[in-house]
Amino acid sequence: MSASIRPESMARITNFELANAFIDQQVAEIRQQVGDKKVLLALSGGVDSSVVAALLIKAIGKQLVCVHVNHGLMRKNESENVLKLFRDGLDANLIYVDATDRFLNLLAGVADPESKRKIIGKEFIEVFADEARKLEDITFLAQGTIYPDILESIKAAEGKKAVKSHHNVGGLPEDLKFELVEPVKLLFKDEVRVVGEALGLPHAMVYRQPFPGPGLGVRCLGAITRDRLHALREADAILREEFDNCGLAEKTWQYFIAVPDIKSVGVKDESRYEGWPAIIRAVNTTDAMSATIEEIPYAVLHKITARITHEVEGINRVLYDLTPKPIGTIEWE
Ligand code: XMP
Repeated sequence: MSASIRPESMARITNFELANAFIDQQVAEIRQQVGDKKVLLALSGGVDSSVVAALLIKAIGKQLVCVHVNHGLMRKNESENVLKLFRDGLDANLIYVDATDRFLNLLAGVADPESKRKIIGKEFIEVFADEARKLEDITFLAQGTIYPDILESIKAAEGKKAVKSHHNVGGLPEDLKFELVEPVKLLFKDEVRVVGEALGLPHAMVYRQPFPGPGLGVRCLGAITRDRLHALREADAILREEFDNCGLAEKTWQYFIAVPDIKSVGVKDESRYEGWPAIIRAVNTTDAMSATIEEIPYAVLHKITARITHEVEGINRVLYDLTPKPIGTIEWE
């Protein structure tokens, strides 16, 4: 599948039968394109790169080399889960790179959101390129490009302006020249999910909420510090657990915690206790261009507040953001 425009005649993949036909066709095409050469893939654990990984493992097994870069801005247990699923579950050829210090050292003292995004995006490419240079005989680079990415680049080429800069693994340095393998580039997100499930990936993984490339970096507002990042990660894990428990996870498009760089006075064990507020954001949208607020029942809000303020060191208040997009964006940065 080399063309980058989806043919009108291409049926929408809505069930396992169509997904399996797509998988068989792609497996054959990938084998033909790749032969006995090796393919490199940046495996973030997001839906698109995971589905591409599973597809390539099915087609070429250990000729696929996955690199998972932990930029230190992942959610709780996220990298561990990628390793468990792909290395233990699918026997993938997977290199794990813990680059937390590289990222957090570069980000120290940087408060401007777009500068943070640029640093994270650029460093991601550098860490990935460093790993690629260590490997020998890699001919191909696989990418989880999907059809909306292609439509987005067409829009960008027409000069339409974006509110925020998003990054992916485009633009590797000159010395790294690979041929691209983009097996899901003509699929929409819902189709990628059906293909993922048909490939045997867990439902929760395939239907997980979107997570921005810069990760918790744009939710630890302002200049990132390790202690506030840790508090954010723990509070976010509690929010996700409680959303799972009460069924909100299934029906909410995106939900997370943001922690701003301000402290308020609180009281704990009869002493003054200064801490950061944890801000709950839970939104629904179809295209991320506009968003409405998911209404969280008071009992759930109380439980989340009690858990976060008791269990997370450094947080002494919990706030609930009721701002739609527009006027707010979904992320705070
Ligand atoms: P905003 O905040 O612009 O978010 O309303 C819309 C959607 O995009 C995600 N987002 C990002 N994704 N890199 C990404 O890959 C980014 O820098 C980035 N910023 C926002 C956001 O999580 C939401 O789903």
